[in-house]
Amino acid sequence: MAGRNLCCKFGLLFSLFCFAHVSYSQPAVVAPIVVEEQLLWLAGTAGVGYYRIPLLSYTPQGSLIAVCEARKEGYADFGPKFLAIRRSTDKGLTWGPMDYVLDDGSFYDGISLGAIVVDDETGSVFIMYSHCPHYDHCTVSTTYLVESTDDGKTWSHPRNISEQVGTMMFAPGPGYGIQKKYEPHVGRLIVCGHSTLRGDGMFCLLSDDHGQNWRYGGMLRGIPYNQNKKGGDFMPDECQPIELPDGTIEVNIRNEGGYHCSCRMKVRSFDGGETFPLEHLTFDEALIEPAVAAGLYYNNGVMFFSNPASTNSRSNLTLRWSYDSGTSWKDALQVWAQPSGYSTMTMLKSDPQDGEYLYMLYEKGRVNQTSYEMLSFTRISLYGFN
Ligand SMILES: *[C@@H]1O[C@H](CO)[C@@H](O)[C@H](O)[C@H]1NC(C)=O
Ligand SMILES: *[C@@H]1O[C@H](CO)[C@@H](O)[C@H](O)[C@H]1NC(C)=O
Ligand SMILES: *[C@@H]1O[C@H](CO)[C@@H](O)[C@H](O)[C@H]1NC(C)=O
Repeated sequence: MAGRNLCCKFGLLFSLFCFAHVSYSQPAVVAPIVVEEQLLWLAGTAGVGYYRIPLLSYTPQGSLIAVCEARKEGYADFGPKFLAIRRSTDKGLTWGPMDYVLDDGSFYDGISLGAIVVDDETGSVFIMYSHCPHYDHCTVSTTYLVESTDDGKTWSHPRNISEQVGTMMFAPGPGYGIQKKYEPHVGRLIVCGHSTLRGDGMFCLLSDDHGQNWRYGGMLRGIPYNQNKKGGDFMPDECQPIELPDGTIEVNIRNEGGYHCSCRMKVRSFDGGETFPLEHLTFDEALIEPAVAAGLYYNNGVMFFSNPASTNSRSNLTLRWSYDSGTSWKDALQVWAQPSGYSTMTMLKSDPQDGEYLYMLYEKGRVNQTSYEMLSFTRISLYGFN
């Protein structure tokens, strides 16, 4: 269908040629439009102050799960929280009621999100999160993993994986982890995140046995490392990895200090996340940002990127797409002009029609420069029909 749209530009005379050409060429041309929106969480409801840090994932059974931090008191990153979840078993048309995965009671700095990672080989879904990442009322930072083997309905007790990786503060994502689908290291689970602002940097945890054992893989340390930072310093922060069809991993990273530009950092790994060579670090001047977590997704030859497209405010949530793995960005769709913050994207993989929709969950607001008012689930048709 998208191919036909492209052909219209060439006129009837060439349409036969075009049609034949398009049917053999990849990638498909996309024309994204927002076809539906649902507000999954609204600040001040269910006795919760704010809902922040959206995570969204497909499951191997074809469901969608949305997860966030329910911040019981105020909007501060370190107040008491529970980990809220909603599930959809009909491709996002309807959502079950809010449930919770974990509750930290009145503990400060207890649950901090986080990344969802799906193991398509075993069917398990994991949420990795950080405990005590801000050292607020606590002294040891711990990385935890919870697992669901029943499509996100129930979750295991948290497993302390700091016993394997140590207690350096590691804040996964926020977003999703990936499972390698192409050589090298097919089947490997990879979760990338960042550390404290002082010891900032991008770090990835790897598991080669379906989430049983984890270890540190490649990293990109901040400069000056483990010293107090100033504006303009090199501080790779919140990040999202994807895998390209040649097995390369690309991580798109929040540029916390605005080093080089108020735009995104990108780095690549060619050995399954073991190393991220500095010569493969680039700054994407087209992807301007106000220092924020962003969404990244790759499907069928198209790379998608979402963030508030602004150098100075969390507003103007924009979806961009690229047919050359982010070397150039073809076009943009403004999803929400007003306050908007963190965003994440996923696609379902169960049915042939699943390739037609991209799903996004993002922080959205209407008033007073706050992007913390609600979490919006948005269904985007990639070929312009709903
Ligand atoms: C998790 O394990 C590490 C390493 O054994 C330990 O230092 C830390 O205290 C544990 N975390 C919690 C919250 O028990
Ligand atoms: C919003 O982002 C678009 C790119 O999608 C850009 O063209 C536009 O200038 C931005 N608007 C504002 C107010 O920053
Ligand atoms: C927005 O700010 C105005 C002025 O400070 C205040 O009166 C109003 O209550 C605020 N609205 C919301 C929804 O916070």
